Amino acid sequence: MMNQKSPIDQKILSRNSSFAGGEFTVAGVKASDLVKEFGTPAFVIDEADFDARAKAFRLALENSFGQRAGTCYYAAKAFISIEIAKWVERAGLSLDVCTGGELEVALAAKFPPHRIEFHGNNKSVAEITRAIEVGVEKIVADSEIELERINAIASAKAVTQKVLIRVTPGVEAHTHQFIATAHEDVKFGFSIASGAALRAVKIGVEASNLEVVGLHFHIGSQIMGIEGFDLAIERTTAFLKRVKDELGQELNEMVIGGGFAIAYVEGDSSSDAEQVLSHLFDAVKRSAEKSAISMPRVSIEPGRAIIGPTTSTLYQVGTVKRVELDDGSRNYVAVDGGMSDNIRTSLYDAEYSAALANRISSAPSISSRVVGKHCESGDIIVRDCNLPSDVTPGDLLVTPATGAYGRSMASNYNHLPRPPVIAVRDGKARVILRRETHADLLSLEVSQEGQR
Ligand code: LLP
Repeated sequence: MMNQKSPIDQKILSRNSSFAGGEFTVAGVKASDLVKEFGTPAFVIDEADFDARAKAFRLALENSFGQRAGTCYYAAKAFISIEIAKWVERAGLSLDVCTGGELEVALAAKFPPHRIEFHGNNKSVAEITRAIEVGVEKIVADSEIELERINAIASAKAVTQKVLIRVTPGVEAHTHQFIATAHEDVKFGFSIASGAALRAVKIGVEASNLEVVGLHFHIGSQIMGIEGFDLAIERTTAFLKRVKDELGQELNEMVIGGGFAIAYVEGDSSSDAEQVLSHLFDAVKRSAEKSAISMPRVSIEPGRAIIGPTTSTLYQVGTVKRVELDDGSRNYVAVDGGMSDNIRTSLYDAEYSAALANRISSAPSISSRVVGKHCESGDIIVRDCNLPSDVTPGDLLVTPATGAYGRSMASNYNHLPRPPVIAVRDGKARVILRRETHADLLSLEVSQEGQR
């Protein structure tokens, strides 16, 4: 058993996970032991791997950009909880939040507000007020209305708020259309091409209580090919030059968002932090030289590339059904979660890998589809994979690389309680976000007395 080939390419697994001992193991704890203690479905996070990936991005930014290194923000939307916020802090990263809710998690973790950047395309007065009151470092402005709103709140509080102007460089990113964000016909940011961005910088600069410190762009998520960033960098740098010439303002910071891809299935390539950042450094340097401006400080906001690969989901198989098709047959393997804990397959056609987690089988592999327990045929977790033909009820399945936008996009569809997140480190497992219960869900119900 020890010498069998891993059913999933090691580069898709977290650093301290493997199948080497005959079953899926995370940081020394076997899948079957995790399930005995915590049940299924469950997200299992390799804590040391999170530390390593977070630090790798921060250090790669510092090493590649040297004096021109800005800030490495962890994008909370990929997944945040109080524990995760503490890990982000201890790895020396700052935090990007995009709602009042994410901000409250950070504050509950005592994350230093001067290391928080506040995003979002429709921040409410209440959210901006809270952000300014607690002293967030920067607010990323996304519309003229919002610039006015931030300025009004800052002046009422007699403070000067640092802002970044979010621009859209008009780049078609190579990713799913719902997660591409920097083309023209999109809700985010101010278009450089249309002149909206220049107007926004002017409004910001002239506002009494705002300090425009730089520009922000984010071209999309799971960007295949780092070259996708080059054009956005070039256009944004040329725009910095325009701002200097036309408004006499030298903006020193450029935030180039996140979007660095990870491996989900065999053949996918993942982003190596050093390689990514040294490529980005060259691109910014080249563009700054071309536009004849001094090199801006560069900040990044990786989410997926830090948390995605650290986490796997464990499920228990409930039923197995062989479906005969014109061109063969398919094994439908149904597990005890589904689109409520992983919406990415049905929403973005995302691909995942799956494997038996509690044993290594020598049965032949057959074409399989991993589905959930929701009342919907689109309730698919892994559309196409090969699983052993002897997968049977009670077996455990693992889908790796579910850390980003898995638990964070989970829902209660069909009243399924959302799974817990279990952190494993050095042979010890602990809950960092507990499993929801039916009682949690029922606690929201408001029913008139006597009307049942
Ligand atoms: N910065 C900004 C301004 C963003 O909007 C995002 C992601 C990030 C950073 C982090 O991007 P990452 O490094 O994680 O790719 N739910 C989708 C992804 C949506 C991403 C939204 N913004 C998915 O599951 O693929």
